[in-house]
Amino acid sequence: MSSIWSSNIKLSLFGESHGTCVGVTIDGLPPGVVFNFAEIQTELNRRKPGNTCLTTQRSESDEFEILSGYFNDYTTGTPLTVIFKNHDTKSKDYSRLKEEFRPSHADFTGYVKYQGFHDFRGGGHFSARVTAPLVFTGAIAKQLLKIKGIEVCSRIKSIADISDIALSYTEDHRELLRNIQSKIILMVDGMSEELAKLKIEEMRNSGDSVGGKVECFIYGMPAGIGNPFFNSIESQLGSLLFSIPGVKGVEFGKGFEISKLRGTAANDIFYSEKDEIKTRTNHSGGIQGGISNGMPINLVVAFKPTASIFTEQESVNCHGEKIKLQLQGRHDPCIVLRAAVIVEAICAIGILDFML
Ligand SMILES: Cc1cc2nc3c(=O)[nH]c(=O)nc-3n(C[C@H](O)[C@H](O)[C@H](O)COP(=O)(O)O)c2cc1C
Repeated sequence: MSSIWSSNIKLSLFGESHGTCVGVTIDGLPPGVVFNFAEIQTELNRRKPGNTCLTTQRSESDEFEILSGYFNDYTTGTPLTVIFKNHDTKSKDYSRLKEEFRPSHADFTGYVKYQGFHDFRGGGHFSARVTAPLVFTGAIAKQLLKIKGIEVCSRIKSIADISDIALSYTEDHRELLRNIQSKIILMVDGMSEELAKLKIEEMRNSGDSVGGKVECFIYGMPAGIGNPFFNSIESQLGSLLFSIPGVKGVEFGKGFEISKLRGTAANDIFYSEKDEIKTRTNHSGGIQGGISNGMPINLVVAFKPTASIFTEQESVNCHGEKIKLQLQGRHDPCIVLRAAVIVEAICAIGILDFML
């Protein structure tokens, strides 16, 4: 079914970028949970558009309204529905996209699947606007995980070919990662951040776009969470992460690079410290056999360059006729800047789901 994720937690995403609202119904939350609304709004503010001149200039407050499932300051345990009303829509800018297809966006595939009946304004249901409810869900998941001592953090690992410094997979970088959250580009290294800023500005000014990578760390994971095969941590987080618009790759631990190593270099050697079993390296990204081994979980998510660019491009319309496409509307020159919090949210949802 479309836009429904069904596990211990069940999510049903709905809405379109320029419709009345976007939202989610969450089923499977425990009863009696008290939300920290300030923390939820802080998470939403990290994703919201119009925060800086390096993101889309659409301005939405991303205030939410809970319609059900929260009563007398507690979750009820019954389905919780939350909506985000759309305010700053300029649908006229998208009128040509009813019949003309942006290269590498979902205009063509959406047109075919929904036979031309879908809401194409501002990307419709394919828009990243629909990730606001995911960040809301993730903020709740983070609050529940925090009680269990689990924390999900992230940073931008690279923008185009500009990389931040490497962070080890064995150490705890929580404090470092918390301290960069107020930056426009969540990189640790100031020089890389500056270069990335210039690169995005250059792209924006020349009508182009760039992609990049988000690196996510999950700390405090006890060993033994997850399953083999179809419900492994990698398969659950992977399937959730690939639901984020614009994601084209996910790597755990050493990722694709591990294929170049010998066993002697790739193997994570065990040792005992106090009462815990740990590994000296963490090339497996904290997961073996689909199950957490107690080391930090580490993953990297690759985002493509924004499909909507302001350089004129060749394309076709729904009649198959060749056209020249000169886009209007407001777009992120680099979606990665707003994506880190979405990656964290998705990981928090996936991990909480295993713990319930
Ligand atoms: C935070 C965020 C912001 C995005 N902003 C834009 C945007 O302004 N313009 C655009 O064309 N795509 C944007 N995207 C990506 C599109 O939504 C995505 O490329 C499109 O839905 C097609 O899906 P696919 O790339 O996964 O195939 C954004 C994605 C995210 C996660």
